[in-house]
Parts: sequence; C-alpha cells; structure tokens
Amino acid sequence: MQLRANPFRPDKPIDNFEQFAGRAHELTVLVRLLYQIRGHNPRHLAVLGDRGVGKSSFINQIQSLVDDSAALLRQLGFDSVDYDFRFLVFKHVASQHDTTETIVSALIHEMETKVRSDSFGQRSKKFLEKWKFTLQLPMVGSAEYQPHSSSEIGIDFVDMVASCWSDVESQCDGFVFIIDEVDKVALTTDIASFLKVTTEKFVDAKLNRIAVCLGGLTGAMEQLKQVHPSIGRVFEPIPLRPMRSEEGKEVIRKALQSSADTSSFRFSLSALDEVVDLAGGFPALIQQLCFYAVEHDDDNIIDEKDVKRAIDEVVLRIKADELDSAFKEAGTGMTARILKALADHDDLNVSLRYISETLDRKQNEISSPITKLVRMGKVTRVERGVYSITDRLLRQYIRNLDILEELIQRENGEELAK
Ligand SMILES: Nc1ncnc2c1ncn2[C@@H]1O[C@H](COP(=O)(O)OP(=O)(O)O)[C@@H](O)[C@H]1O
Ligand SMILES: [Mg+2]
Repeated sequence: MQLRANPFRPDKPIDNFEQFAGRAHELTVLVRLLYQIRGHNPRHLAVLGDRGVGKSSFINQIQSLVDDSAALLRQLGFDSVDYDFRFLVFKHVASQHDTTETIVSALIHEMETKVRSDSFGQRSKKFLEKWKFTLQLPMVGSAEYQPHSSSEIGIDFVDMVASCWSDVESQCDGFVFIIDEVDKVALTTDIASFLKVTTEKFVDAKLNRIAVCLGGLTGAMEQLKQVHPSIGRVFEPIPLRPMRSEEGKEVIRKALQSSADTSSFRFSLSALDEVVDLAGGFPALIQQLCFYAVEHDDDNIIDEKDVKRAIDEVVLRIKADELDSAFKEAGTGMTARILKALADHDDLNVSLRYISETLDRKQNEISSPITKLVRMGKVTRVERGVYSITDRLLRQYIRNLDILEELIQRENGEELAK
C-alpha cells in the first residue's frame, strides 16, 4: 500500500488553464464574444449543459483568460493579439436558498473586495444597508418586511456598477458578472426580471463594457424565458455537449501532467480507453473513475483491474446517494418506474413510446415526470420523444440493483389495494 497525491479532482471545477482539457471550439466562441467588449458591444452569454459536463470549469476559464491571455490564445491558434483581457470578473454560484437580493449582494461584495476603492466602499455600504431588512429576515422574522421588487433591485444594482466602473475605468477593459447554477433559482426567484432590467439599464446608462455570463442546466434558459421571453435574445447560448473521446483522454493527460507525483505511475492504454468510453463524454465521471483507480492501484500501472474496482466504488458510494437524492427531489412513484424502464432498455436512447408501452401508461401521463427528470439533469432529451439516462454509471447501477424493483412492487401493491 502506498500514499500518493492524487491528481484527479472529482467534484471540483477546474480553475486554471493547465488542467482544462478540450473545448477548443467553445473557448474560441467565448474569446470572440468577450473580445467584443472592447468594441463597446458586449454580448451576454449563457453556458448551458448537463450536470457534470464541465460548465463551471469552462466559466472559470474567463478568469484564466484575464490571468494569462497569451497562453490561452496561443493554444487556440489566434494570431498574436496585442490586447490583454483586463477584465474584472465577479462570480456568484447560486444555491437553492438564494433570493435575488442575496445574489446581488454577493456580487456587490465581490466588487468591494476586488475594487477596493474608498468611494465605492462607502456607496456600496449605503446600498446594502437599504436591503438590510430583507437580508436579515430569515433570522429576524420581521413583520415589517417588504420585498424589494426585482426591477427596483436591478436599477439600484446598475447604479452601483456605474459607480464602481467610473472608479476603475482607466485601468480596466470591462466587467464580467457571472451567476453560475442559475437553474437553482430560475423558478424560485424573480431573477429573470432582474436580468432583464439590468441588461436593459446597462444599455441606457451607456455601460457598454459590462457582460453577464450565466451557467446552468440546459433547461434553465427555458425557465427564464417562461418569465421573460426576451431573455432568450439577450443571452447568447454556449451549449456544452458531452466531450469527444479525444477530449476525454486529454482530461486524463492534463491531470497527470499537472501533478508532481505522477512520474511514478501511468495508465495502461486499455484502462484509458475504458474510462473514457464508460464516462460517455462526462469529465465529472472521468475524474471520479480515475481518482478511485489511482487510489486502488498498487503496482504503478493503472490497468483494467484498477478501473473495475473504481467502477464498483463509484457505483456503490456515489450513485446510491445520487439516486436517493433524485427521488427525494422528484418524488418516487412514476419517476422510479421511468428510470428503471430507461435503464433496462439495451440501447442508451429510449423512445417515449417504449416507456409508455412498458409502463402501460399514456404518453401524456409520463411526460411531466420525464420533464422533471430532464430538468434535474438525470435524464437527457436526445431528440424529440427520445430520452436517455444522462449518467451511464447511474444507468448501470439501476440495471444491477433490485431496489427500484422493490419500490415499484410496493407501489403497485398500494395501488391495487385502493
Ligand atoms: N475541460 C475539463 N478538463 C478537465 N476536467 C474537467 C473539465 N471540465 C470539467 N472537468 C471536471 O469534471 C467535473 C465536473 O465539472 P464541472 O465544471 O463542475 O461541471 P458542471 O458545472 O457542468 O456540473 C469536475 O471534477 C471537473 O474537474
Ligand atoms: Mg457547475
């Protein structure tokens, strides 16, 4: 048995360019859009894709571009650009508990920390003071609480940005505001109105070197559009699809290169192929499988035997939890049955018609739970009427286990008893 620094990072977004693999096309699109800020023609963007496909890591490369644009641009094949991306990047990762106020306050705090000008500090303090009631409400439970409307918040926020911008304009090429995991708040808050108001006000206020970047599950944009259809036109989508297998291999190569300890071990070619194949283009799965394969190895060659043990470990440790939380979120019942039907089919892609026949339910009865699973990122809509389980290991796990079977039996029993 040995101890070694494991170069793989399950569940941690990549935050530097050295370890960031693939995505050359999407990065090129990103660079082109960000470059427009220079010409006072900023584009707002939305990085969209399934859970674990690499959205947060991709968004983090905006900061890489600021930190060392030469390295990134050279690798993407841009001719020498005599231009630095001197942006200030302000990021917030949304959570279920966020409100529009907490998101905006977090962004303003980011501005305070990164800009550090006294005049801005005083103004932002006054501004946050105004929202104090709202922010303290969960603890205080004040009856006087009056929610601020999102457009009110938006107008105040744009004022703050203007004030901050005027302090740094001479040393800065632009601001990029990032709200990651926007799907978590797309339906529970009025963030859509806030985004609409702010992006419009930026134009009115001639703040034309400010861009907003959203990150979220594919369905997030649809949810925002339900509130304000025009949001679809304001945000340029950058869809992240599962990686090609070359990119998957690069994920492993880059992780190995980045580690000081790795000269002492290597991957066998067949192990590499197997991991990449199994991961189905999801870097999250590559990182998980490789992490455990490295942990299990005892002869400095990561081979199929180590991968096999990694699969068992990932399936048992992680997928069981994931499935459990999926049911807590979506409710069991029909969801479980749909997942089971999807997993049991020999093809990855399964038609709605097949599911409906297998479960003996009309298609319109299963379309709403399926939409829920898609929104949660558990199921991917391949094309109209065709679905697959997003995560192949989760699929494997469901195929192998009888727990769903038990659950379904129990519910059938209850139904019959009614
Ligand atoms: N381009 C990439 N190169 C290497 N690893 C990546 C890349 N993109 C994502 N990962 C890894 O995959 C996992 C999921 O990435 P993340 O960016 O958090 O995905 P998402 O935000 O879409 O859920 C993380 O462990 C991350 O380190
Ligand atoms: Mg993410």
